[in-house]
Amino acid sequence: SGPSGAPSPSPAESPLVKRLAGRGAEVADAPPSVWFMRQAGRSLPEYKQVRGTTGMLESCLIPEMAAEITLQPVRRHKVDAGIFFSDIMTPLKIAGLGVHIEPGIGPVFEEPISSEADIRALPPVDDVIRAALDPIREAVRITVEELGSTPLIGFCGAPFTVASYMVEGRPSRDHLTTRSLMTREPELWAHLAEWVANLSGEFLRAQVEAGASAVQLFDSWAGSLSERVYREHVLPHSERTLGFVADLDVPRTHFGVGTGHMLPAIADAGATCVGVDHRIELSEAIDLLPGHLAVQGNIDPSVLFSSEEVRFAEAKRVVEQGRAAAGQVVNLGHGVPPTTDPQVLTDLVAHIHSL
Ligand code: CP3
Repeated sequence: SGPSGAPSPSPAESPLVKRLAGRGAEVADAPPSVWFMRQAGRSLPEYKQVRGTTGMLESCLIPEMAAEITLQPVRRHKVDAGIFFSDIMTPLKIAGLGVHIEPGIGPVFEEPISSEADIRALPPVDDVIRAALDPIREAVRITVEELGSTPLIGFCGAPFTVASYMVEGRPSRDHLTTRSLMTREPELWAHLAEWVANLSGEFLRAQVEAGASAVQLFDSWAGSLSERVYREHVLPHSERTLGFVADLDVPRTHFGVGTGHMLPAIADAGATCVGVDHRIELSEAIDLLPGHLAVQGNIDPSVLFSSEEVRFAEAKRVVEQGRAAAGQVVNLGHGVPPTTDPQVLTDLVAHIHSL
């Protein structure tokens, strides 16, 4: 209950969650809703202090630490949602794969998973793995309790983006090895993608069962595929991942970078909301998508390093264009860059709430 003793409104009934579900009309009078991808992390001094020398993926498995880092940007910026502090690689670590996050680089694997033998030897996604997700459930429970009426967004990585790191072994510009595996050995690719779909799906479901009010599927690198290849080799697996929470009544955002050429396919994976990056006008994206869907985005992260005048004009553009959708949540077109001045984000949130 709230400070007055009155029950706090449920996060599931918040304007942000309704908007993500495409029910924006019900909350048309509420101020715009906003959060930022990568709002937790290196742009915040309090994050660096709490993380200290703990490895990125190790910190995700310490429930109190993950909860505290999730809450930091909500307290500081007054954003309308927390995004669970974790990583798209966390389930792979839980499944026992040799992966770590190299600061300034990204996910790096001790041994890339690319031969038939490697792929066939992946551990089963079973009760052992479901039990090993307990630190995630615990972190979500602590976070949700602290957030009160503010919703928590759970997330996971989509099969293509996660598998591309596994196959390439580290961040890659063109995902060439992964894309050639898809066409050269489609059956082997499907086996790998389905394994990731199940693992990411269990990770996502654990977060919702523990109290997350919405989910986001990150297929950051899907934009490197043609719509045809995406529909044939990737979409069914992403659909499978979102299927793990289909019975739980939470809105589902599906996000990728550079997906302007294939937005209807992104929507087809089972999304209620499509994440739009800054490479396309939001109004154009809305025209391409089915009318019942919500949109999220698409402030160009580069304006965080521009003048306040430019930044506020960009926010106005996004809010105005987004009014045409069944629901709109303001966000950046991609994650907060680590060199962002946190005060710029705090002021931007206040400004967006005033629009
Ligand atoms: O605020 C949030 O968004 C919280 C949670 C979050 C993280 N990673 C924390 C993180 C989320 C949703 C992610 C998703 C993620 N992780 C994606 C998809 C989104 C995107 O940005 O496209 C991807 C591709 C990854 C893989 C990954 N993890 C990369 C590329 C990096 C950056 C490496 C670097 O140092 O530049 C990470 C590390 C990571 N994930 C950090 C954080 C806060 C930085 C860790 C640190 O402090 O060094």
